[in-house]
Amino acid sequence: MDRLIVRGGRRLEGALRVQGAKNAALPILAATVLANDVCILHDVPDLEDIHVMVAILQTLGAKVRVDEKTVIIDPRTITSTEIPEHLMRKMRSSIFLMGPLLAKFSRVRISMPGGCSIGSRPIDLHRKGLWQLGATIVDEHGFIECTASQLCGAMVCLDFPSVGATENLMMAAVLAKGETVITNAAREPEIKELARFLTLLGAKIRGAGEDTMIIEGVPTLRSAEIEIAPDRIVTGTMMIAAAMTQGHIEIENTRPHELHALIGKLREAGVQVRIDRDIIEVKRLGAINAIDRIQTAPHPGFPTDLQAPMMALLSMAKGTSIIAETIFEDRFQHVSELQRMGAMIKLDLRTAFVQGVPRLSGAIVEATDLRAGAALVLAGLAASGTTIVDRVDHIDRGYESLEKQLRQLGANVIRLHAKKEKERTLAQV
Ligand code: EPZ
Repeated sequence: MDRLIVRGGRRLEGALRVQGAKNAALPILAATVLANDVCILHDVPDLEDIHVMVAILQTLGAKVRVDEKTVIIDPRTITSTEIPEHLMRKMRSSIFLMGPLLAKFSRVRISMPGGCSIGSRPIDLHRKGLWQLGATIVDEHGFIECTASQLCGAMVCLDFPSVGATENLMMAAVLAKGETVITNAAREPEIKELARFLTLLGAKIRGAGEDTMIIEGVPTLRSAEIEIAPDRIVTGTMMIAAAMTQGHIEIENTRPHELHALIGKLREAGVQVRIDRDIIEVKRLGAINAIDRIQTAPHPGFPTDLQAPMMALLSMAKGTSIIAETIFEDRFQHVSELQRMGAMIKLDLRTAFVQGVPRLSGAIVEATDLRAGAALVLAGLAASGTTIVDRVDHIDRGYESLEKQLRQLGANVIRLHAKKEKERTLAQV
């Protein structure tokens, strides 16, 4: 596996432009199955998860052409409704094919999806919602077979505002017979982006981004062209990186209104954040103040995907901060890795007590999931000495060449490609 070598002590300074949003692009790619002609997606991020989604669409029979950041999909040649297990296991987003394949072809056969090991990640809300829309779901030999001659609109109340379940149900309901009302729907910005794409296809959706969404089924959907929105989690990660290094950066092509929770917490920590239309300026002035409490929550609450990077920042604050992770039951795996770098963190079930230390020190650490890996790189930027971050494949699932983006801002980060480099210790790098 590739490793990143991070030499701490450099301030991040300069400007950068944010990549397209992974968590918007993935459901939109799945939704192209619903179209009756060629769809064109612009500003699609070049990420491992996107490559897997393209492979899934091609395996189903779709013609897909990737031209740098533009992806062109012709769904008219799809002949299969079965997703190979080895592709299902590669990422959580493979589950997004359930709704559209069922709606368009009346059948889908999948196995349990893979994804970051941040919790059990069940799919009961997806299954229950599709069953309420009229699907028959049979489990056999580790596979899930869903069939429905015609999906019918229904009132679906989600037990939890699950992002993926909301998206799957949206993609099923747009071709269902009649009206579907989804209550307790997820309100993340990516929901509105998916609704924007489905509406371009000809779907009739009201209330996307609110807790109640109404979808009027239509007989067929046309084609569409769309530009993927900027990635709010990558934006937030770079904002935190600037704060950690006492830097001063400007991030272009952002959507500040999607990051109010983070902006509020960074200001509470003493970081200067200025907004000018789609530009966010971040400047660290003095010490980082501890924050009484951060609690992750569904949007517009503090995003769980920024919990790990924020913990890295607060591990160097003056005082003790409390971080409660309410979304995933096992999303503190980065704590033990941060402790290797000198962080003073105590865990009590799903609450972390982060006692700030003056300086972290470089160490050999391992990325356990996508955002945890990013947090360790950020910690390395601020630490004394050199940090080696293993399992960069996790980071590559969500960040387009994180090391290049950081080098663009003055960081000293290089990638050791696994096949070229033998084992190295800190002393040798
Ligand atoms: C999406 O995952 C994102 N992934 C995650 O981003 C993000 O952390 C998460 O939403 C929350 O915002 C993509 O969009 C591809 P959920 P998803 O369904 O849809 C439980 C990243 O780093 N749940 O909202 O899987 C679940 O176990 C990734 O980019 C059920 O119990 O999240 C979790 O505790 C990580 N049953 C909670 O709901 C279900 O059927 C939130 O999950 C579905 C979910």
